Amino acid sequence: MSTAVTKLLAAAALAVAVAGSARGASRTTLSDGWRFSRDGGTTWETVSVPHDWAIAGPYDMTEPTGDTARLPWRGRGLYRRTFTVSDADAAHLAAGGRAYLSFDGVMASPRIKVNGRDAGGWDYGYLGQDLDVSRLVRAGENEVEVAVDTTKHFSRWYPGAGIYRKVVFSVRPRGHVIPGTLAITTPCITAASASVHVSCVTTEGPTNFSFEVDSPRLWDVDDPHLHEITIAGERFRYGIRSARFTADDGFHLNGRRVQLKGVNLHSDMGLLGAAFDRSAAERQLRIMREMGVNAIRTSHNPHAPEFMDLCDEMGFLVWNECFDKWDDTAGRRPDQQLEEYVEDNLRRFVRRDRNHPCVIVWSIGNEIWEWDPANPRRSSNRWLDRGPDGQTGERNRRFRKAVLSEDPTRPVAIGNRPYMNEERVVRLGIYDDLDVLGFNYLRSYAPVRALLPGKPLVYTESASAVSTGGWYGGDPLGGMNAYQPDFAQVDSRDFQSSIDLADESFDWMEKDRYCAGEFVWTGIDYLGEPIPFAKEARSSYFGIVDITGTPKDRYYLYRSHWNPGAPTLHISPDRWTFPGMEGKSVPVVVYTDAEEAELFLNGRSLGRRRKGVPVEMPAAMTNAHYSVYCRYRLMWLEVPYEPGELKVVAERAGGRRDEKVLRTASAPAALKVTAEDMPGLAEGDLMWLHVSAVDRSGTEAVSNAELTFSVSGNAKIAGIGNADPCDYVPFPQLTGHRLFEGKAVAVLRRHGPGKVTVTVRSPGLSESVFELQ
Ligand code: GAL
Repeated sequence: MSTAVTKLLAAAALAVAVAGSARGASRTTLSDGWRFSRDGGTTWETVSVPHDWAIAGPYDMTEPTGDTARLPWRGRGLYRRTFTVSDADAAHLAAGGRAYLSFDGVMASPRIKVNGRDAGGWDYGYLGQDLDVSRLVRAGENEVEVAVDTTKHFSRWYPGAGIYRKVVFSVRPRGHVIPGTLAITTPCITAASASVHVSCVTTEGPTNFSFEVDSPRLWDVDDPHLHEITIAGERFRYGIRSARFTADDGFHLNGRRVQLKGVNLHSDMGLLGAAFDRSAAERQLRIMREMGVNAIRTSHNPHAPEFMDLCDEMGFLVWNECFDKWDDTAGRRPDQQLEEYVEDNLRRFVRRDRNHPCVIVWSIGNEIWEWDPANPRRSSNRWLDRGPDGQTGERNRRFRKAVLSEDPTRPVAIGNRPYMNEERVVRLGIYDDLDVLGFNYLRSYAPVRALLPGKPLVYTESASAVSTGGWYGGDPLGGMNAYQPDFAQVDSRDFQSSIDLADESFDWMEKDRYCAGEFVWTGIDYLGEPIPFAKEARSSYFGIVDITGTPKDRYYLYRSHWNPGAPTLHISPDRWTFPGMEGKSVPVVVYTDAEEAELFLNGRSLGRRRKGVPVEMPAAMTNAHYSVYCRYRLMWLEVPYEPGELKVVAERAGGRRDEKVLRTASAPAALKVTAEDMPGLAEGDLMWLHVSAVDRSGTEAVSNAELTFSVSGNAKIAGIGNADPCDYVPFPQLTGHRLFEGKAVAVLRRHGPGKVTVTVRSPGLSESVFELQ
């Protein structure tokens, strides 16, 4: 078909007829009924997709580190399933329609067969593919086989294994838009109108057209409005917004400066493993939003397409990142040439995500060391310096060109590591062709501003603060790296970090307005990379939220600063039960948006604190890292512990008082289960149950008691866990789990109607029964 340029009138939902209609498309999500084998097809089990074969364990305790969680993700797997081509589908195919098997992501290197014949494959596990299987299917029953091989993949965290994202079989009639070809841009936006340009390729050939939207409602972080367009019978969404990184004034959205209050998120779903679940991802994002987050960095690879949909719908700005490194971490085999491989995957990545208004930048990598062929050197640290696989000016230029040829509307960036020899990098011209530069840690964007004053800068990783949710002990006031190997836990009062502290970054972001904002490492704990206890643990300590999705104390520090509209008043430690500590000093920190508060122990005032007024810090904390602490938190660092009641009273503007009370618990007497409020919980969605130990009066008690779960009705427990990064009970197991410092979480999936009962038992404690009607 010849290219048509049409000027159409404004409409929110626009229907465009392009060479006939693709109505009658059929679409089946292939979720249940897959057969799965780990031994080349000798023995089979039935599984549902998305599926992560490794999450159920067993853990391999002979693995020297927990870097990839000691879970059995490395290996080969085979999946088979039948699907049906109806007579109507077959008629469409006979008339020039096409059939697709669309994979959102398979870890890793899937090779696909349909009815025994090769249908293709790809390597990078974080990307999917729309395979055109028109010539391989027939009317009636068909079989798809997916062979998966993770043995050539390398990862610095737990990547999951298998068909861990959605699979859809679709038949689309003649005239449909070929997947991956659609590009919707909004080249001119004013208050009066926006011009929208659409280009795509249908089975009949390329087409493009433009139209105007009058008084366009813009997509924004507070009002993430999406427009819809119907092309050849199929609906697509897009947003109208302007986004721009500046060198001197950070990031601008729709013409105003928006501070990026961001978090890095890996793509796993915590104790559910890598298998994508929309309700779990929505929950993660909701928890981040309530903390005040407005931006996500998809560290360090493409997240599920549905995650991008959620960011569009919920108003998150996305630093969309394709790779960590450009080697086997990117699924690249040694025989695959770097430039071609990276370029090909970047193009697929951009084609996949370019119509999401949430995406504000394309990141082509993370912490890729500079490589100067004229001056080669290779470090022994394979994660950081891969020698010839590093950044060069030429590579960055080539990759940027490839990205822009698929989407000329967004900047191209890399998240760079600190400690690079920036002067050398600048001299080599490595950053010349990058539009935005990200820097990780140590305020390392600041020296680059002096070297390259015209480049927009972003703090792509801040903090790397570490803590174990709900754990208080060790040497909390011992300074930056005062970790206690005896416990393999880190005190939750947020005095420790492996690099920066949250409060320092707040200060820098306030001062350095040229920098667009920060992305904290990390919003949520993830499986793998258990710094600083790689030998002992299987999941990270970096999260502001623990692996069960429960906020750690630090959450309230961020919330008090990032979301001042939501009143925050939180005491850390968040319990006042420390048997054996009588008379000893317990540091107390209060996170609040209020400027001032007074602390009371058993009715006696321990004094008022006001933000900005310094308090005396212990010797190990009289350095620059802690000098701004008093601006963001209120501290009483020497509270002599006595059981009873610890109360904080905050004064807000207008004299409004707010208080928070902690009471010492006596011995644990019973279990308590409460369900997390899940807006819009639908059948098939997940439900989070919080289990705790309580004393006779109902006060939450400290206990590490063992738990046994049982379920009746149309539901199944998908995973059980707690905040302990050293817990090695497989998540889906119903027995053997423990409360950690009094708390655990179970995730329930309802499969059908009727009453569901979950019973939790522990020897010596009264059981708790949770019922769902
Ligand atoms: C960064 C890296 C992240 C993570 C983090 C841990 O250097 O980019 O992926 O490893 O360190 O502190």
